[in-house]
Amino acid sequence: MADPHLQQADDDSGRASARSGSTVDDDVRHAQSGRPERGHRAARRRRPGTVRWRSTLAALVTGTVAALSIAACVSTGGGGGGRLSQLPAPPSRADNPTTPEKVALGKQLFFDQRLSGSGRNNCESCHYRDLGWTDGLQLSRRDDGALNTRHSPTLYNVAYLTAWYWDGRATTLEAQILAAWRNQMSGDPDKVAARLAGIPAYAAQFQQVFGSAPTGDAIVKALAAYVRTKNSGESTWDRHEKGEPNAVSADAIAGFGVFMGKGRCAICHTPPLYSDGGFHNIGLEAGKAKPDPGRFAVTRQPQDMSAFKTPTLRSVATSGPWFHDGSGASLEATVRYMASGGGNDPNKSPLLVDTALTDQEVRQVVAFLRTLTSHEPLVRPAIP
Ligand code: HEC
Ligand code: HEC
Repeated sequence: MADPHLQQADDDSGRASARSGSTVDDDVRHAQSGRPERGHRAARRRRPGTVRWRSTLAALVTGTVAALSIAACVSTGGGGGGRLSQLPAPPSRADNPTTPEKVALGKQLFFDQRLSGSGRNNCESCHYRDLGWTDGLQLSRRDDGALNTRHSPTLYNVAYLTAWYWDGRATTLEAQILAAWRNQMSGDPDKVAARLAGIPAYAAQFQQVFGSAPTGDAIVKALAAYVRTKNSGESTWDRHEKGEPNAVSADAIAGFGVFMGKGRCAICHTPPLYSDGGFHNIGLEAGKAKPDPGRFAVTRQPQDMSAFKTPTLRSVATSGPWFHDGSGASLEATVRYMASGGGNDPNKSPLLVDTALTDQEVRQVVAFLRTLTSHEPLVRPAIP
């Protein structure tokens, strides 16, 4: 692959015809608190089958993290009906409430190369929307030229997490973003804040949003507010779940059945986020000369050795290569690896076993996963 940034995004193959049709930028849509979203009126009805799957799932999942109960957070949305997917409204922290103006400012900062030490990188350097907010690379290079040891994860749905990074070492999104800014981009918060203060349009925006001149803290808060709007919500599969006829193929429906049942995938990839928010060793570090300790570095619990966060599978088809080390080269190979029970590691999660899926079942699961891609529009900001 000559330039991985040009890699074709692996899109959904469901029999989707009409896309979301929304003309409102998703950032704005998600930040409009409390307002019910314009959806597909005909698609509001819930399929009876969905409820049945939910209870099957409840029986399957025992003692996993309640991925969607977020402590110390307030919801920015109405939380009730009218949402475009089964995900609740994205939460935000009480000390950094999401507002449309803050999101708009955070969006400019996300795409502004002035935040980096070299002046050549922005957050997008490793988190491209069309690549599922990842970079298409197995491992990326930081602003200082050093090679990262872990693959850039998706930014989709990070608002719903309670621990950030592959090992969950950051306990707030704000702390995570400050670290990313410093380490990935060699950003110096005080220097950047001073520089932005000299740009009249930025100075006015910070005054309006934070009532102050730009500060490192305000920059981080605005970035976090923007990143919290990166939700992979309504997908073809959501439209199917809401009763839209012929939204997805028969293979995708069969694949969902395998995913929830024989394949045991939903034990960890729990809908509607398709993640349990937990950490599991799936055997990728086995046999490496210097195994990545993963979650163990945070908890020091032996059972957490080389355990990594369960990624959301929403829009997973767009975000390859896959896994924390970027070793999953194709979506089918990645699913096959999971279905075969993973690598041979003494610390591998006992929840991951060889489920003996047939080739057809693997392909059906892949067909299902491709229907989880969302199509919200991205309007690039003008940088002051
Ligand atoms: C040079 C590449 C690079 C740049 C630039 C970069 N990141 Fe990342 N980002 C990564 C990598 C690699 C990780 C995972 C590191 C780990 O888990 O140890 C990551 C993780 C994250 C996560 C955590 C996601 C999760 O699931 O826990 C968020 C959020 C994030 N970055 C946001 C940002 C923001 C905001 C910026 C700009 C300030 C940024 N990143 C700049 C490479 C980059
Ligand atoms: C024991 C919990 C568990 C089970 C069961 C499980 N997964 Fe995973 N899955 C994970 C974890 C944890 C990761 C990330 C691990 C890593 O990168 O080290 C992952 C990664 C993935 C990825 C890559 C996502 C990305 O963004 O990189 C895909 C695709 C995936 N799993 C699909 C499946 C499918 C399909 C099944 C069922 C056949 C399944 N998983 C079963 C926990 C699980």
